[in-house]
Amino acid sequence: MIFYFSATGNSKHVAEYLAKKTGDRVYSISECVQKMHFDFKLKKGERLGFVYPIYYWGLPSVVDEFLKSLCVEKYGKNYVYSVATCGVLTGGADMDLAKKLSKRGIGLHATFALRMVDNYTLVFNVKNTEKNEKKNSKAEEELANIAFLVYNRSGGYYNRFRGFWPATKIAHATYDLTRNTSPFKVSQDCIGCGLCAKNCPTSAISMEYGKPVWVNKKCSICLGCLHRCPVNAITYGPTTKRNGQYTFKENKD
Ligand SMILES: Cc1cc2nc3c(=O)[nH]c(=O)nc-3n(C[C@H](O)[C@H](O)[C@H](O)COP(=O)(O)O)c2cc1C
Ligand code: SF4
Ligand code: SF4
Repeated sequence: MIFYFSATGNSKHVAEYLAKKTGDRVYSISECVQKMHFDFKLKKGERLGFVYPIYYWGLPSVVDEFLKSLCVEKYGKNYVYSVATCGVLTGGADMDLAKKLSKRGIGLHATFALRMVDNYTLVFNVKNTEKNEKKNSKAEEELANIAFLVYNRSGGYYNRFRGFWPATKIAHATYDLTRNTSPFKVSQDCIGCGLCAKNCPTSAISMEYGKPVWVNKKCSICLGCLHRCPVNAITYGPTTKRNGQYTFKENKD
């Protein structure tokens, strides 16, 4: 059983790749939260995985919310692992995950991390598709190793991208301060397709007179609405327009 959260597809790809290699089931955390589906039963010997993007060296608020209600009936000594996808560094997010899982009676046996394209376009520019493909191809090689370790239920802390993790608390405190939807703007280019509202994991967007309106003050700032808009009509502050849109694409080679 693999739970994942993903706004722009990196973590979804990782979860689906692992599912293919291990034969495990996949669940979208945002769908579970929307349907209030929190009770799960593991089969004997089934692996339990958590795949998520790093937000300010910590967990996305949607993942946090999911973990608060998650109830997994453990059949026996099931192997539990996590894979974080990040652009640069994870901080101590996996340690926080371990703490939160332990409150749900779940022990984490292994943690992994992968560097993929950084979708935080408030800062990073994602317009260079060649550079993006290079970064994701490197991650794909590492993902093959992770799948092998997960398949064989290897325990250990394999995350090489923690950085100076004692600063995690400070870094992650910024997340809550920035979870503010007021900088979102929509341009005249909007065609009123409603995709942004439909796919928002926090139901923060409502369509009013054919245009999106951010009705919640706080959201998870996953930037999924911005990156997935078919006409690039959504901005968040002055930098996101020039930094481009990103969604994960399978390498066709
Ligand atoms: C609000 C926000 C905060 C982020 N913070 C970090 C961070 O602290 N460290 C990092 O390496 N990447 C950070 N990222 C980048 C994402 O973790 C990374 O691009 C991830 O692979 C996206 O996964 P997804 O495509 O499954 O949504 C951040 C992205 C967002 C949207
Ligand atoms: S996804 Fe883009 S085009 Fe579609 S409603 Fe939202 S802003 Fe408008
Ligand atoms: S409003 Fe946009 S950034 Fe905020 S949670 Fe919804 S999709 Fe993500």
